[in-house]
Amino acid sequence: MSAATEPARQPASPPDAAAALAWVDAHRACFGWSTRAWARPWRDFVQAHHGLHVGEALELGAGPRSSLAPLLLGLAERVECSVYDGADLPAVQALNAGLLDAGARARLRYSQHDLRALEGRWDLIAMKSVLGGVFRVHESGLADVHAALARLIERNLKPGGLLVTLDNGRTALAPLLARRGARRNGWRLFGRADLPQADAHYGFGVLGMGSAATRWGVVGARIDDGLYGVDVLLTPLARQHAVHLNVYCRAP
Ligand SMILES: C[S@@+](CC[C@H](N)C(=O)[O-])C[C@H]1O[C@@H](n2cnc3c(N)ncnc32)[C@H](O)[C@@H]1O
Repeated sequence: MSAATEPARQPASPPDAAAALAWVDAHRACFGWSTRAWARPWRDFVQAHHGLHVGEALELGAGPRSSLAPLLLGLAERVECSVYDGADLPAVQALNAGLLDAGARARLRYSQHDLRALEGRWDLIAMKSVLGGVFRVHESGLADVHAALARLIERNLKPGGLLVTLDNGRTALAPLLARRGARRNGWRLFGRADLPQADAHYGFGVLGMGSAATRWGVVGARIDDGLYGVDVLLTPLARQHAVHLNVYCRAP
């Protein structure tokens, strides 16, 4: 088992900064592909929100290849991992089971939710690569994205709660990829200013727009690692990043 997939133990009390980051590193594999690039802004978020430990967290839009639920277990006592399409549930459950020990699995439950009609309140809600597909460019506008986020913050966060969104950014290279993969179907890539003003923003990467690993296996993973190394250097120089992590806080 690699360091990235080896389950870490959940501490009984709120984790200190080092333990919180160790949890992220131990569960990085849950990002599925380009894991270093996705984990970087998540790590920055965890580091900046040092000591964050809430009661109830929800993941929206978990998928068969990537679910944030293992990461959320490092920040919350109980985690609800939801899918939109019930057919995805067995694969998501199997994916997470492979990354978690029995104690962590006992704090995780599964459900099905549509983010546009979500009922209930949580301390922390997170979603990755969901907004771009729900609000495709030919079907919706940015106002719809903003309204959906405002609804989640007002109706689905407890006072003082956090909404964390991870999305693919629109870098200068985006036009080159416009006809590839999901982007063929109107997938929305976000410029930093497209999303509502966040309470905290962490951006990363310029080159890491896709995943060579999913096409070319081990060789592709090496390419992804190489691109990650270049992206570490390019990130401070770039105005638009390949990954945006935004944090929205509901007033206490
Ligand atoms: C590109 S996949 C991302 C899956 C996973 N989060 C990941 O990062 O791999 C988009 C996900 O959004 C989910 N989704 C689509 N419409 C949704 C909605 N209205 N509410 C919540 N999730 C939705 C899909 O079922 C799918 O799992």
